[in-house]
Amino acid sequence: MVIKPRLKGGLALTNHPIGAKEFVKRQIDYVKSQDKYEGPKKVLIIGSSSGYGLATRISLAFGAGAETIGVAFEKGVEGKRVGSAGWWNTIAFNEAAEKEGLVSKNFIGDAFSMEMKDDVIKFIKEEFGGKIDLLIYSLASGVRTDPIDGITYRSALKSTTKEITGPTINFEKETMEETTMGVATPEEIKSTVKVMGGEDWKLWIEALDKGGVLSEGFKTVAYSYLGPKVTYGIYKEGTIGAAKRDLEHTSDILNDFLKEKYNGEAYVSLSKALMTRASAVIPIFPLYAALLYKVMKEKGIHEGTIEQKHRLLTQMVYGNNPVIDEERRLRPDNWEMREDVQEEVEALWDKVTPENFKQISDYAGARAEFMQLNGFDFDNVDYDADVDLDELAKLVP
Ligand code: NAI
Ligand code: NA
Repeated sequence: MVIKPRLKGGLALTNHPIGAKEFVKRQIDYVKSQDKYEGPKKVLIIGSSSGYGLATRISLAFGAGAETIGVAFEKGVEGKRVGSAGWWNTIAFNEAAEKEGLVSKNFIGDAFSMEMKDDVIKFIKEEFGGKIDLLIYSLASGVRTDPIDGITYRSALKSTTKEITGPTINFEKETMEETTMGVATPEEIKSTVKVMGGEDWKLWIEALDKGGVLSEGFKTVAYSYLGPKVTYGIYKEGTIGAAKRDLEHTSDILNDFLKEKYNGEAYVSLSKALMTRASAVIPIFPLYAALLYKVMKEKGIHEGTIEQKHRLLTQMVYGNNPVIDEERRLRPDNWEMREDVQEEVEALWDKVTPENFKQISDYAGARAEFMQLNGFDFDNVDYDADVDLDELAKLVP
């Protein structure tokens, strides 16, 4: 079967397994082109199959020689359905890691469940040398069933202040259009915090601690975003911002606990805005990203997912150049937040129209990045070639 891209707004309905291999390979090539670094040897990554979690895993494996366990929620081939991009990314990662003799184990399923935590702990004890040095928490999800009360919560991407209308990019129609973000009810705020806040991160650490699988000096980092003024309404002051504040609060609790017991550390890291499956569906965000790319590329300081995570790990978490703010957050978003960068983005934001957005933003770059997340738009992949789904269906992460 020949697989063509099909989009619906900011969602990709198809993805290309051969392209996924290229997507992963390019990130590995980047890491290999950089110096090796001293880092953790045994790592658990929650949300390992795409976006920032995948990039982190690639940096740690190919830059620091880490053995990794990945947890992700993905789907394989079902009939004529090709499976999810993260499924193919994970298979591509495995193949590459195996070639280098690096252990790469995957758990595909619900990270929020207690069963998943138990399964991972059992594996660490019996087959992974007994302990882990690092846990990366990089989940992006719209739904979570609380394992304690059994209630299923759904997150809402809404404002907490007032209704917000602003422009965004529709990648399907290739247009700039107005989107409106409604105001969340108190219930919706609470649910979003339940899904995207720190509760599950804390449950993971508690379970791993109880299981006796945390090493001396153990570290954990959860990924978050803050963003600049132009996105405050939708992000910082939105439901998602409320959830991220909960995550930050959790990092302080975990840090105290880990310091005391393991001489360990817990951090939240604020990352740069990038196109990922999660961010492409946030209203306003894709246009902001396209304008930001334009400015950062012109200044020679643009980073993709892999560059951003590699810098976080080599210079901050395992390096001597951490950028930490007064709220104890790691700030690899420091280049995005530079005053000169934001001034220029704001100036473009004031000027951008449905007629000129392709010219004045890095629309092409943002779109290519979005397509490549799904395995499309690589110049060295033959998209007219037949993909043998039956053969591919035999592969599992
Ligand atoms: P993504 O959508 O690319 O990755 C999400 C990961 O979570 C995938 O591996 C997916 O399989 C996994 N996942 C989702 N639900 C799951 C479940 N129930 N059980 C197990 N795995 C599950 O998203 P992205 O953008 O990499 O986001 C990761 C984190 O980075 C989020 O906390 C996000 O807020 C943060 N971040 C993202 C930024 C961006 O611009 N994309 C900027 C700054 C932070
Ligand atoms: Na991720």
